[in-house]
Amino acid sequence: MMRGGELYRTYCSACHTAQVHWREQRLVRSWDDLRYQVARWQKVEGQSWSGEEIDDVAAYLNRAFYEMPCPMPGCGPKAGAATPALVNR
Ligand code: HEC
Repeated sequence: MMRGGELYRTYCSACHTAQVHWREQRLVRSWDDLRYQVARWQKVEGQSWSGEEIDDVAAYLNRAFYEMPCPMPGCGPKAGAATPALVNR
């Protein structure tokens, strides 16, 4: 999870801010969508992340923004955990 956040900051945040993940017409509607988008974007960035790294970044994003049900331990929203302020678009 920590690694997911770092990878995201290093390779992804230059271009789109958190804004992208909050917008109304977002592409991501499920955990599978999210993994798909992460896989797609890391390729755009010339990376070749492992499945595990893709999971980590997807988990990070899910936890930080999407809060969808997801199959990995610790990647869903957690009561009491420090989640970034959830902006109400
Ligand atoms: C070249 C600029 C750029 C970079 C670099 C980039 N993105 Fe994006 N990303 C975008 C744009 C623009 C969109 C929205 C466009 C679209 O609808 O496809 C987007 C959309 C997304 C979405 C879908 C958001 C939603 O809910 O609709 C995800 C997830 C995502 N990016 C993840 C990543 C990850 C992970 C990385 C790093 C590996 C990354 N992006 C790097 C520009 C970028």
